[in-house]
Amino acid sequence: MESDHRIIVALDFDNRRAAEDLVDRLGGQCRFYKVGLELLTAAGPGLIERLVAGGNEVFLDLKLFEIPNSVAGAVRVAGALGVSMVTVHGMGGTGIMSAAVAAARDFPRLRVLALTVVTSMTSADLADVGVTGSGSGSGSGSGSTEEQVVRLAKLAQGAGCHGVIASPQEARALRGVLGADSLIVTPGVALPGGSPGEHARADTPRAAVAAGASHVVVGRAVTRAADPPAALRLLRADLERGK
Ligand code: C5P
Repeated sequence: MESDHRIIVALDFDNRRAAEDLVDRLGGQCRFYKVGLELLTAAGPGLIERLVAGGNEVFLDLKLFEIPNSVAGAVRVAGALGVSMVTVHGMGGTGIMSAAVAAARDFPRLRVLALTVVTSMTSADLADVGVTGSGSGSGSGSGSTEEQVVRLAKLAQGAGCHGVIASPQEARALRGVLGADSLIVTPGVALPGGSPGEHARADTPRAAVAAGASHVVVGRAVTRAADPPAALRLLRADLERGK
């Protein structure tokens, strides 16, 4: 069955064997995988090389927040491994993001995405770390969260990033702000009828794409399903209905 490159399956496992078993089970159904810090630490870069050699795209979710020189070094290594997407924290500011973008230039397929606000964070969480917004929102809802997301997304675009990571709820506002060409990758999606789990701002994949997301990241709804290929088919069917 043909894969849908808008769907990225997050390989959130603590060992290479489990990740490879899942990739083998999904076969040609999925050609885009996210590797995060847990799996990278457990399995090392060899798994990424195997995924790329097998014709898959890899989103390496490094969530970089370091001095620009170190960020650039990590991005270069990611590019040399053949990955397609790498993440950097928007909160790190223009210097860090620009360094990542400059380092990625040697790798034509590599896209640098900025993290805005992690999907588990609410306005209250932002206030706890000193981000309170301009006060133009209601002060109680998602106003300051969205304000912060838009602010960081604009900063990321100005630094040359190819796109952002954001929750489905922010996709519409971001598409308006960033324009048609920017990538908007949304984790925090749940299958229709599924539990949103720990995502404070979860939505369905179809809703996310309809709102402007270019890609959706799905983890446990597929990887922990009793039948992962069937769960992925459900996800794709949900997206197809939205066309
Ligand atoms: O919840 P799920 O298993 O679908 O998570 C898939 C990916 O979404 C994770 O690898 C994580 O990076 C991201 N995520 C997120 N915010 C959360 C939970 C997960 O960005 N609150």
